[in-house]
Amino acid sequence: MRAVDLIQKKRDGLELTKTEIEWLIKGYVAGTVPDYQMSAFAMAIYFKGMTTREISDLTMSMVATGEQIDLSAISGIKVDKHSTGGVGDKVTLILAPLVASFDVPVAKMSGRGLGHTGGTLDKLESIKGYQIEIEQEQFIQQVQDIGVSVIGQSDKLVMADKLLYALRDVTATVDTIPLIASSVMSKKIAAGADAILLDVTVGEGAFMKNIEDARQLAQTMVDLGKAVGRKTVAVLTDMSQPVGTSIGNRLEILEALDILQGKGSGDVSLFICELAQIMLSLANVEKSIEEVRAHLENGLALKKFEEMVVAQGGDVEDLHRSVKVAYEVDVFAEKTGYISGLPALEFGLFAMKLGAGRAVKSDDLDYESGIAFAKKVGQSVEKDEKIATIYSNIAITNDMISEFQSHIMIGDSAVEPKEILEIIS
Ligand code: URA
Repeated sequence: MRAVDLIQKKRDGLELTKTEIEWLIKGYVAGTVPDYQMSAFAMAIYFKGMTTREISDLTMSMVATGEQIDLSAISGIKVDKHSTGGVGDKVTLILAPLVASFDVPVAKMSGRGLGHTGGTLDKLESIKGYQIEIEQEQFIQQVQDIGVSVIGQSDKLVMADKLLYALRDVTATVDTIPLIASSVMSKKIAAGADAILLDVTVGEGAFMKNIEDARQLAQTMVDLGKAVGRKTVAVLTDMSQPVGTSIGNRLEILEALDILQGKGSGDVSLFICELAQIMLSLANVEKSIEEVRAHLENGLALKKFEEMVVAQGGDVEDLHRSVKVAYEVDVFAEKTGYISGLPALEFGLFAMKLGAGRAVKSDDLDYESGIAFAKKVGQSVEKDEKIATIYSNIAITNDMISEFQSHIMIGDSAVEPKEILEIIS
């Protein structure tokens, strides 16, 4: 077989066989198919797409390029959750302990942030001492002992995705459904959970800009999960504005702690309770929203989170401390009206420039910097009322404030934001 022939076949819109896909992926990981041919192949997929059968073969070929985690030592139905990326997305920090507080085990591998999107690992690492790299046996033991662990994805999982994702990142081939679906699902399948909740983000701050594409991606991933015997549900969630009220690693830990104590803003708490309800149901535990919310209000979810932090070497005192920055600058409304838009992409990029995110993979983070919003979409605002506070260790110039203000959209009538747009199961 020759890579050039397979690239040409895909370029001409033809369907590749399972053997051909396996050969390409194996060869890529082995180094016999070079980056330049894989980039051409990714671009051919970008323009010509793949059939469901091809995506499934691609996914399983990728799974075969690494370790597969065996979670069978943990009793019960293990449920995993994955988000396709967002701004201010602290959902895992709350959802994992909340679900575990109902004795449903959560063994979760998370990723880092890049560009305008944040990563759960970076948020956890803003807690002094928290270890994201622990041995697999210890990870499994911890889930057996306390029911929850969130760690970094093992380097040995899905080698093909590591190489391919880096290549896609620099060849403009990230945002295509066959490649996103196979990337996400190969990792989820290899990570070993019995059931998977997929949070497919939609909007300006997400890979999927419109609901039709998000629906197609979600359905593709649900079908892939089901085909290999994993109960899979996808929710389409709004990423036109940041999730919750903060962007930034430590700020998001603090917001997560508020939500875990029943003190979060109503909308985001309800959204997380709805996701928890779906995850619990995947493990055959049926609970009402009120029963789920009770675990935020009675301290059980917070206790689980603190247990996880301690088990992974984190300092609980440090966990609860507030942010330490050189500059705190409030931003005020330029007119009276209703907040009609807080574009997630723009504010994610703004937070990145403060040091809260990485422009390139090798960038260091400033865990303390970020943005806390006092107002969200749909809320009314008076001229000169505070809309947000910028937390920074670099001086905030007037130009930066003007830029920040230019992203805030204020309209004449109230719009009603909706977190979960659709459920696909
Ligand atoms: N998240 C992933 O893990 N892979 C993609 O391709 C996109 C988002």
